[in-house]
Amino acid sequence: MASQIRTFLQDRIPLYQRLERLPQQLLGRSPFMGDITPARVPLLGIFSGRPTLPFPHPWNYGKPIRILDTYFWDADADDGPGRHTRYLDVPGFAPVLVTRDPGLIRSISADTGDRPGQFDRDTLPSGGIARATGKDSLLYANGPSWKHQKKLSTPPFARTTLFQPEMFAEFERTFRHTVGHRLEAVRAHIQQHGGPVRVQLEPEIKAVMLELLVNNFFGATVAYGQIRNRYVPAIDAVINHIVFDTVVNKVGCPLHRMPGLSRGITDAKAARATFEELTDTVIATRKQGLGLWAQFKSDVPDELLRSNIRVFLAGALEATTSYASWAIAHLARNTTAQEKLFAEVQGINEYTPGTLEQARYLGHVLNETLRLTPSLYFHPRRASADTWVQTAGGLRLYVPKGTHILLDIWHANRHDDHWGTAATGFPAADFVPERWENIAQAGRNKGTNELLHFGFGHGPRFCPGKSLGQLEVALVVGAFVKLFQFVAVNPANEARASVSTKPLDGVLTELHLRQ
Ligand code: HEM
Repeated sequence: MASQIRTFLQDRIPLYQRLERLPQQLLGRSPFMGDITPARVPLLGIFSGRPTLPFPHPWNYGKPIRILDTYFWDADADDGPGRHTRYLDVPGFAPVLVTRDPGLIRSISADTGDRPGQFDRDTLPSGGIARATGKDSLLYANGPSWKHQKKLSTPPFARTTLFQPEMFAEFERTFRHTVGHRLEAVRAHIQQHGGPVRVQLEPEIKAVMLELLVNNFFGATVAYGQIRNRYVPAIDAVINHIVFDTVVNKVGCPLHRMPGLSRGITDAKAARATFEELTDTVIATRKQGLGLWAQFKSDVPDELLRSNIRVFLAGALEATTSYASWAIAHLARNTTAQEKLFAEVQGINEYTPGTLEQARYLGHVLNETLRLTPSLYFHPRRASADTWVQTAGGLRLYVPKGTHILLDIWHANRHDDHWGTAATGFPAADFVPERWENIAQAGRNKGTNELLHFGFGHGPRFCPGKSLGQLEVALVVGAFVKLFQFVAVNPANEARASVSTKPLDGVLTELHLRQ
């Protein structure tokens, strides 16, 4: 157990700095100062009744939301500034700060970047990702290297490129064609069956999302059967390995260099090889200038793009699948919202920037989905220097160098203090797209950006794939609602989480054809 604690808390702070803080830590003094005074969370908390220990270890790493729950166990009884911001400080290690305070999340996100003293993205929780994809990616890099990666890889899918009329029309057409094709197969199946069918939708959504990326976005021509039955399972296996690897791989050895000593490692290596084959396939289309490559104006060698392409394939697939799966899972439990959305999308045949803007209720459904069930449930940061942060409300917090910070989006977005009836007209824990109409009418999401769900992040490390991802999800959800009426098999909509969150039941749904 001690070695697991070390894996999570170990950092790159020189020994002398750790020793410097040791007396304060042993005395239990808070390393933070200022107007915001985070409350301390005990390391063991025996008999406290909290769900688990406040760090990942081999028995709890599969339930990361419970680890975050632990930080806020009993926090609602606290009326002070520790209610939404808490910390763990183990002698000899860097402190861990967890916040569900939107004001602080926003300030720390805005102050993340490559300038001296700004926060970094903490690479500790993504060690396994980097071993699988390579470290030279936009997701993993910090400082000048991140700036370089950003310039190199984001232009082809930025809003300014994607929303150029010609480019948009081409992607929209091919995306719509692919989605239509897959939904048609489900429709034919229901018709043949002669009644409603029960389907677990998440694997189907994932296959469509990968097809959109591989064939439409990169211009490859991989058969759907290969995507569904070969590449999706391989990427799933790589992701499962990544999560496990982050917690237990203490030697830091990349998967492809590991000896195949166990069945698990041999299978994971085979999955990694299949994933690599897919990476080769989408890079090969570059020479012909297919798909997005036509927009990619750089002569950088293919090899330097590899890590980003791997992140793109696995990361974008995870995020878009999570987003669309949650939207359908929520609508399957809310027939009023489903019918209201149907009334809006039944007249939409093409998803142009104009129709997307007019589809107001679809926008509310998607916003509400990302608020209540954000795909990325925490954003990791690290203090690269001793830093003072200031919130928009003028509150200050001193964060010592090396602090690991978890911006806890999951809990921030479902707390009544921030999103409850007083602020939005409805309880925070409920899925209510109309909340966004209230917010718009009160002018609270304009100009001041007062209510942010952080579903695509905030500040310099904001998601560069937002426009592409939203187009894909809007198309899939819109086309789906147009064709089917659907009801969840399980009334409760519980979550599971690894690198992203997903509905626990895999979106198990009963589908009926619309007349
Ligand atoms: C539609 C579903 C998506 C969601 C909900 C989503 C969410 C996010 C969030 C929350 C972040 C910020 C993380 C942080 O601040 O630590 C992020 C960053 C990122 N996203 Fe997305 N994303 C989505 C789709 C995509 C797509 C389609 C791509 C690829 C085209 C993409 C590529 C990236 C990259 C490379 C970063 C890191 C940016 C940086 O560090 O500068 N995402 N995403």
